[in-house]
Amino acid sequence: MVAPVTLCLELLGIACLLATATSREVNQFPEGFLLGAATASYQIEGGWNEDGKGESIWDHMLHEHPEYGNNGDNGDVACDSYHKYAEDVQALKDLGAKVYRFSISWPRILPNGDLDVINQPGIDYYNNLINLLLENDIQPLVTMFHWDLPQALQYIGGWPNPILADYFLEYARVLFDNFGDRVKLWTTFNEPISFTRGYAGSGGQAPSQNASGIGDYLASHTVIRAHAMVYRLYNEQYRSTQNGRVGITLSTNWYEPLDDREETLAAQERMFQFEFGLYANPILVDGDYPAVVRERVDNNSRAEGRPRSRLPSFTEEEKRMINGSADFLGFNSYTTMTVFSREHGISPSMDRDSGAFRMPNYTYPTSSAIWLTVVPWGFRRVLDWASTRYPNYPIIVTENGYADYGDLDDQERISYYGQYLAEMLKAINEDGVNVIGYTAWSLLDNLEWNSGFSVKFGIYHVDFNSTERTRTPKASASFLAGIYRNMSVPEEYFQ
Ligand SMILES: *[C@@H]1O[C@H](CO)[C@@H](O)[C@H](O)[C@H]1NC(C)=O
Ligand SMILES: *[C@@H]1O[C@H](CO)[C@@H](O)[C@H](O)[C@H]1NC(C)=O
Ligand SMILES: *[C@@H]1O[C@H](CO)[C@@H](O)[C@H](O)[C@H]1NC(C)=O
Ligand SMILES: *[C@@H]1O[C@H](CO)[C@@H](O)[C@H](O)[C@H]1NC(C)=O
Ligand SMILES: *[C@@H]1O[C@H](CO)[C@@H](O)[C@H](O)[C@H]1NC(C)=O
Ligand SMILES: *[C@@H]1O[C@H](CO)[C@@H](O)[C@H](O)[C@H]1NC(C)=O
Repeated sequence: MVAPVTLCLELLGIACLLATATSREVNQFPEGFLLGAATASYQIEGGWNEDGKGESIWDHMLHEHPEYGNNGDNGDVACDSYHKYAEDVQALKDLGAKVYRFSISWPRILPNGDLDVINQPGIDYYNNLINLLLENDIQPLVTMFHWDLPQALQYIGGWPNPILADYFLEYARVLFDNFGDRVKLWTTFNEPISFTRGYAGSGGQAPSQNASGIGDYLASHTVIRAHAMVYRLYNEQYRSTQNGRVGITLSTNWYEPLDDREETLAAQERMFQFEFGLYANPILVDGDYPAVVRERVDNNSRAEGRPRSRLPSFTEEEKRMINGSADFLGFNSYTTMTVFSREHGISPSMDRDSGAFRMPNYTYPTSSAIWLTVVPWGFRRVLDWASTRYPNYPIIVTENGYADYGDLDDQERISYYGQYLAEMLKAINEDGVNVIGYTAWSLLDNLEWNSGFSVKFGIYHVDFNSTERTRTPKASASFLAGIYRNMSVPEEYFQ
């Protein structure tokens, strides 16, 4: 990567370097940078069956199988944001947020997933939220799908069924028609690599379908097509009047190779390609899966005696539709793991296909989530990596944050944000990475999926024992408010 400062130097000489350096210090955010916070519908809304809302796969799974969750925790009430959204907006206002990333619950809008019923109270709810945000000068960044698929669509197979792409397109049209006059930032999907695991095993991610190494690829294939179809719909029918931007949120850790042997570096590359390239390569590079993914899944499928690859293929027409179908890249990243080459995982599985093994390095500070250690330098590296591999796409960091046990005086979270934001600013100001926004995960303590209410990511505490679900700012909320107000990170985090 060529940092702008270097480029500047080469083209125009040293005066340019000085001009760049003095125009913005390394600890300052660029003008217009969008700072805010993020949530997701199932994790905060509650009201799971109110006012005509349909059942989602998470409602269904945690009702049928409370043992898949924590202590019977589920999203029936969660933070009760369905009733308390005005308090959420007030919290964002106090934070000085310029953007709020939230998701829309598909079954709240379309209880059966289909257009047979369009649930007006659901539309009213999001209209009220969006209008209140705009009155407070907070821009909505809307995720169309953050994992709460209508259960009605799971009964026809869920994402592995290719027809889901058509259902998603029709849902997206309802969203553009009802909210697109005011919502200018959309992401279609949140972390497909995470939610497609719902088709790769039992007991974890909804809908908990035991089809490892097959269902997860089929689901991913539908999701990539669905994303591109929605992007093209926006281009053809909405962009000229609504003038928004449509992207997708993908996720990856930084993967630090265990050593610098060729075999280990190849495993690092495979890990990135199976986790991130699986989606980013078709959408942002050339319309198709990464060559290494294609080759390994095809090979393993053949060796297993199958007549076809477990990884489906796109038609030429689909490739043209998928290639370049994003205005920006939403990017979720929390931590760094060590990676090396090793055959592992059941057969068939994505793990086994990847032949790459990852593990947290517990010499770094830990958190209340077993997968999350605090490795600030890895954040700069992964941002540099993403912008080198996928140039030309502005990045919005749609999730980044720290998990603890809920202390109001959350000094570890402050330390995490201070250091990670400093590394992000180095990526922006020293490496020239085009990051245009950042939404901290999360505004509120919320239902952390299978970990329930035991793992806390909020900068606001929520009292889940009180029917009021009282919100209280933690120390990290005022720390971030200072950064958001100043548009700069305290210099001590750069030392
Ligand atoms: C999942 O499928 C595998 C392979 O068919 C089987 O060995 C395993 O017992 C199944 N697990 C559950 C929980 O059904
Ligand atoms: C993908 O799109 C890019 C940018 O529009 C273009 O340069 C490239 O040739 C396309 N790749 C393929 C394989 O069509
Ligand atoms: C795929 O199989 C072929 C033939 O067995 C082998 O030459 C090739 O190295 C394999 N590729 C990968 C990525 O395993
Ligand atoms: C863990 O991190 C430490 C410090 O960077 C490093 O020395 C060590 O090699 C790492 N261990 C593994 C297994 O990655
Ligand atoms: C409710 O309060 C009890 C006792 O203070 C505490 O142990 C528990 O974690 C609380 N539950 C939640 C969901 O906050
Ligand atoms: C904001 O800037 C003021 C004045 O430069 C400084 O005193 C304060 O510490 C800064 N706060 C943060 C959180 O950066």
